[in-house]
Amino acid sequence: MAKTALVCGAGGFIGGHLVKRLKADGFWVRGVDLKRNEFSSCPADDFVVGDLRDPLLVREVVDQAFDEVYQLAADMGGAGYIFTGENDAGLMHNSATINLNVVDECCRRQIGRVFYSSSACIYPAYNQEDPDNPVCSEASAYPAAPDSEYGWEKLFSERIYSAYRRNHGLQSFVARYHNIFGPEGTWTGGREKAPAAICRKVAQARSGGEIEIWGDGRQTRSFLYVDECVEGTLRLMRSGFPGPVNIGSDEMVSINQLVELVADIAGKRISVRHVPGPQGVRGRTSDNRLVQETLGWAPSRSLREGLERTYAWVEAQVRREAALDAWPVPVQPAPRPRAPVRELAQPGPEA
Ligand code: NAD
Ligand code: GDD
Repeated sequence: MAKTALVCGAGGFIGGHLVKRLKADGFWVRGVDLKRNEFSSCPADDFVVGDLRDPLLVREVVDQAFDEVYQLAADMGGAGYIFTGENDAGLMHNSATINLNVVDECCRRQIGRVFYSSSACIYPAYNQEDPDNPVCSEASAYPAAPDSEYGWEKLFSERIYSAYRRNHGLQSFVARYHNIFGPEGTWTGGREKAPAAICRKVAQARSGGEIEIWGDGRQTRSFLYVDECVEGTLRLMRSGFPGPVNIGSDEMVSINQLVELVADIAGKRISVRHVPGPQGVRGRTSDNRLVQETLGWAPSRSLREGLERTYAWVEAQVRREAALDAWPVPVQPAPRPRAPVRELAQPGPEA
């Protein structure tokens, strides 16, 4: 019999890629999300459109002893969403409520294995002030001092999953993702992260043109291609190690270097105008010693390789939007084959 998996946040970027991989591996998959995937059809066997903040909805979707549950649903975004301060109350409330509901229901249903996607944003700001030497080893998480409320919620939720493991024997597994990028990620609208934003800006610019970058561009990050993120997630989930463990790249670059790389891939000469904007920590990269030690694995694909695929995809989105804007009559996209949708926004009484 096929193994079963529930993917919470299946309509999002990483969740969408994860569903595709689980289906390719022969799983029966149920996806759940507030919305469907925007850029491709989701091959889930069952897709529930619903709100995981609602405990009745969560009870309805966790209706069987799934072999694996992946909890990726969150109210999240890049620096332009999480560092402005304007979304703090909502994102903390929304994500914490989802996690409280999901972990409790997984425990009640005695789910085999439960994965939770935490973030590099849990690491203390005081260890990420030097752009050349950020400290992001797992053990450095405490004394806690994340630089955003998004990071505090992630840390709180990590602790919920590990408390359920200690008190109720829940087989929970926690990864700290470091800035994941790739095709079908958010690329416009305010929640996009630096790789997609820079691909978009370069794609929209002419060769010899200028793009705006937040800050002096000397802040550093590392970026992990989504296929490797999914691979690391599955390896952790099927291991004997509960985490938390970093899933990220240790190829650290400055944002200015990221622009140069994208411009080179695009074959354009691009100059940068540094403007004020939300910046977050000064430096961050994944410390991959623990993931290597515990899983015998670490991501290996180069940033350039992932960016080549991502730039091609973002450029196609930019062209598509430009073509739609230029067209006088609204164009209806061709209908896509879809898994059956169950609308559960208004759940019925508890069974
Ligand atoms: P995403 O925003 O593309 O996906 C999250 C999905 O959760 C969205 O589709 C959203 O609609 C859904 N969601 C939000 N609230 C919901 C609700 N109340 N009920 C049901 N669904 C809801 O983000 P992503 O990049 O795919 O990230 C997946 C997970 O990984 C998130 O938990 C995120 O915080 C974490 N993470 C991502 C990164 C990254 O760089 N992408 C880094 C660190 C951690
Ligand atoms: N998004 C974005 N857009 N960032 C820009 C831009 C731009 O146009 N220009 C410069 N930057 C800079 C930001 O100021 C920040 O210093 C850096 O690029 C990285 O920004 P993001 O990719 O948006 O976010 P982040 O790395 O600070 O945090 C992300 O990664 C975390 C995990 O590592 C977020 O996605 C978090 O939600 C995630 O948990």
